[in-house]
Amino acid sequence: MKKIYSIIIVLTLMILALPLPLSAMEYQHKLDVKNMQFSWTIEGDLIHVRLSAKTTGWVGIGFDPENAMQGANIIIGAVKDGAFKIEDHYGDRKRGHSNDEELGGKNDVINPSGTEEDGVTTISFTLPLNTGDKYDKPINAEGTSLVMLAYGAGKDSFKNRHPYRTVWEVNYSTGENKKIK
Ligand code: HEM
Repeated sequence: MKKIYSIIIVLTLMILALPLPLSAMEYQHKLDVKNMQFSWTIEGDLIHVRLSAKTTGWVGIGFDPENAMQGANIIIGAVKDGAFKIEDHYGDRKRGHSNDEELGGKNDVINPSGTEEDGVTTISFTLPLNTGDKYDKPINAEGTSLVMLAYGAGKDSFKNRHPYRTVWEVNYSTGENKKIK
């Protein structure tokens, strides 16, 4: 009898020790906007992000915009024929953005992944809160800051404009949020 209990305990511990696949990862906080969802977890000096939107085009997030899209640390991603592409961009003008690497910065996206299922595109990735890159800005985990969410339509091109975009004020630690635009 004792042996059976020991086996059950060992098996339970083995199951608990299995690493969770990213898709099953539970995020601490979630923001639901029109046809789009932003989920995140702050872990030490990292932020884990999942973006999902009802589109076969791109999905994007812009941390800390200053003037429309200008000054935002933008991560944009799309999935085409099962392959995902996620890039680190910067809002280098009011109505546009460029790839950090083309501007002379670097790609700071960690563990990118992406899927497109039933017309819904989902990307997930991790970012250091402070990348040290000239074309990113430290993400303020305490207090509130602005975040832009947007998605494209149809084509996966990152040059295709958004049919939907919104700006929210978010506290990344507590999850508190308020719609700005
Ligand atoms: C893909 C290429 C993109 C193009 C060509 C583009 C173009 C524009 C243009 C022309 C505007 C001004 C008109 C309007 O308010 O709709 C605008 C505003 C805006 N864009 Fe983009 N955009 C792009 C990507 C993005 C991305 C990736 C995000 C967010 C992650 C974003 C977020 C926004 C927001 C929030 C506004 C409104 C800003 C405000 O009024 O304060 N855009 N964009």
